[in-house]
Amino acid sequence: MDNIENLTSEILGQIEKALDLNTLEEIRVSALGKKGRLTEQMKTLGSMDPEERKTAGQALNVAKDKIAGAIDEKKIALEKAEMDKRLASETVDVSMPVRPKQQGRIHPVSQVMEEVLTIFAQMGFDLAEGPDIEDDWHCFEALNFPKNHPARQMQATFFMGEDNVLRTHTSPVQIRTMENKKPPIRIVAPGRTYRCDYDMTHTPMFHQIEGLVIDKSTNMGHLKGCLLEFMKKFFETDDVSLRFRPSFFPFTEPSAECDVGCSRENGEFKIESGKGWIELLGCGMVHPNVLKNCGLDPDEYQGFAFGCGLDRFAMLKYGIPDLRSFFDADMRWMKHYGFLPLDIPTVTSGLSFNAGVKK
Ligand code: PHE
Repeated sequence: MDNIENLTSEILGQIEKALDLNTLEEIRVSALGKKGRLTEQMKTLGSMDPEERKTAGQALNVAKDKIAGAIDEKKIALEKAEMDKRLASETVDVSMPVRPKQQGRIHPVSQVMEEVLTIFAQMGFDLAEGPDIEDDWHCFEALNFPKNHPARQMQATFFMGEDNVLRTHTSPVQIRTMENKKPPIRIVAPGRTYRCDYDMTHTPMFHQIEGLVIDKSTNMGHLKGCLLEFMKKFFETDDVSLRFRPSFFPFTEPSAECDVGCSRENGEFKIESGKGWIELLGCGMVHPNVLKNCGLDPDEYQGFAFGCGLDRFAMLKYGIPDLRSFFDADMRWMKHYGFLPLDIPTVTSGLSFNAGVKK
């Protein structure tokens, strides 16, 4: 029996000294595990005579309980110590300033997208979206481009198999919206668009935003007022004049191209009225055939649509000369033309307050 007591106090001593949970587990396995020292002792009971077995058995059970109890207690103590240590080392000083130097930048297209959506959201427009890969119906047919109509060649389309194309404009979202929603409709649909084109002002992938308003008496006056309001907010000046020139799109009648007044003096480009003009976007009254194609009665409903290039807006507002540079992923360019990440544009606190912040 002597050796059981010695063994017990030896193991209790080890438990006492254990510094972490892993060591404690090793001690448990070496004492009480399948091949543990106490377990081995239990196995010898079978060969003892009954009297001896009784006392030895009892002593072993007492020892086992003691050791198991000591291990449980130690475990709780170690876990608590570990938690205290973590709490102490993982404290966060909430009074610390954010990282002193912001490294990342928001791309001008993302910035302009935020700005434009902020303005239209404030003007009561909903957000609509459609897929980049479109079918012929949504991209052309429903928009009143008959098959083989020369107007289809106005846009250098990327074809994808039999019936699919990479959308050449965001106008298919007009169709998707009218197919799924009864008027009144007031949406803007931003997104990527694709045409086979590449020079200073064209890239094969670019960004557009589409606007669509349908109701019972929506007219061109509303279109003009809506665009004027938008331009003033976007270019952050009240000195905005717009000019509408007759144009042609299969899906609008009448159709117009909208120019904004600007000046180019001493190498500086500025949005202001009375000097020159720069073309901004295409627009018009939604063609009755388009309404019919979406199941709307043109005798009951009418409305306007417009579509503009977001990249172009970014170039004009922030004086970026070459569109191709937008997609070069050049960090030096991003540092120069990009925006600080935490300055989200809002109409009330300013849209471009961090523009030109030199970082
Ligand atoms: N989808 C036309 C384009 O990409 C623009 C447009 C949209 C014109 C809506 C009129 C109405 O050129």
